[in-house]
This record gives sequence, C-alpha cells and structure tokens, in this order.
Amino acid sequence: MTANLELPKLDTSKGAAFTSDQVTVVFVLGGPGAVKGTQCNRLVEDYHFIHLSAGDLLRAEQNREGSQFGSLINHYITEGLIVPQEITISLLKNNIEENYKKGNTKFLVDGFPRKMDQAITFEEIIVPSKFVLFFDCPEDVMLERLMERGKTSGRVDDNVESIKKRFKTFEETSMPVINMFASKNKVIKIKCDQSVDEVYNDVQKNIKDRL
Ligand code: C5P
Ligand code: MG
Repeated sequence: MTANLELPKLDTSKGAAFTSDQVTVVFVLGGPGAVKGTQCNRLVEDYHFIHLSAGDLLRAEQNREGSQFGSLINHYITEGLIVPQEITISLLKNNIEENYKKGNTKFLVDGFPRKMDQAITFEEIIVPSKFVLFFDCPEDVMLERLMERGKTSGRVDDNVESIKKRFKTFEETSMPVINMFASKNKVIKIKCDQSVDEVYNDVQKNIKDRL
C-alpha cells in the first residue's frame, strides 16, 4: 500500500519540540465507540483544551483535495488498521505547533497513540504526555453504539465487518500501549458503561489533581 508513496519524514534527531512546561498533552484512549469524543467535548468546554482527534485529522487529510494519502488512509480505516505513524504524527505535530503559536498550550489528543511506535515517536519529537485517560467499555456496549452511529455517521468503518476488525486491532495493538503507560502509573481508567454524566463526573474527579 505504501510502496510507491513517500511518507512524511519525522525528524527524531532534535528531540522534543516542546517541554512539559510549555505544552500539556493528555492522551485519550478507549475502544471504538467508547464515547471518547463526547467526553472530550465536555472537557473542552470546562477546561479549555484543544481537542485533536487523530481519526478526524486522518479523515480530513483523506478528503483534502490534492492529498497523496487519500486512498491509503481510506484503505487502513476501512480495514480497521493503524495508518503509518508518519502521516498521523505529522498531522498532529503541525496542528499542535500552529495552535501553540496562537497561544494554545493544552491538548486532548484523542484516539492516539493506538500503536507502540506512535507512543514512542510522539513523546520523542513533540512532547511527553501528562497522563492517559482510558475509557474502558465492554465490547457489546461499543458495538451497539457504533451500529447506531453507523445509521447517520457516513463513516466507512461503522459497519459490522469493519467494527470487528477495529476491535481486534484495539486488543492486539492498542491495549499494549495502554498497559505500557499503566506500568508507568500514567493511566486514569474510567468505566464507561454508565451514563454520559456519570462518566464525566468520574473524569473530573480523577483529573482534578493531575492537571
Ligand atoms: O478514533 P477513530 O475511531 O476515529 O479512528 C478511526 C480509524 O482511524 C482507526 O480505526 C484507524 O484506522 C485510524 N487511526 C489510526 N491511528 C490513530 C487513530 C486512528 O490509524 N492514532
Ligand atoms: Mg472519535
């Protein structure tokens, strides 16, 4: 899929672009359909974070006129696979840098890092994360939500076939990332098989001392 395409280069020789004093990054993870986006929207309202959804940035790049990566991104998303980190990290880095120039310093990076290489490279070349919010949700609840969302989302991956693949990728590829951060005591785990308000209360209680 990437054979005849040149991926953006990630320069790992200069260290991180920002220190943790300059920029706060909170990673937001959870299986597909774990309402990460909904919770992020609330945090944006109350804590003035900038919300950067890796999936949204990839879909925007896919649809951008003149993008070389449109069909590659479409392929990975439909198959529920993780897009090569060069693309996703370049999009995030550009966005964070542009926002920083405007005076924004607090970011929720949603749906990222979904694979170990993304976690390592992001912290190496952008900024170390402050902590990880992990929305832990049973698969049957997520499946039901995604099927419901699929009626109107227009997303190529909100169908049973893609959803199953996304669950598999989450278990095999993304859970190890969460476990790695947990071993460093950086994970705040939120049970999300409760109402949106209850989930958000839990979030607020847990992040209050860590920001
Ligand atoms: O987070 P969201 O469900 O919007 O992500 C949709 C898809 O985008 C994922 O299933 C994956 O194919 C791709 N993605 C990725 N790397 C990320 C986030 C999303 O490859 N960090
Ligand atoms: Mg999302």
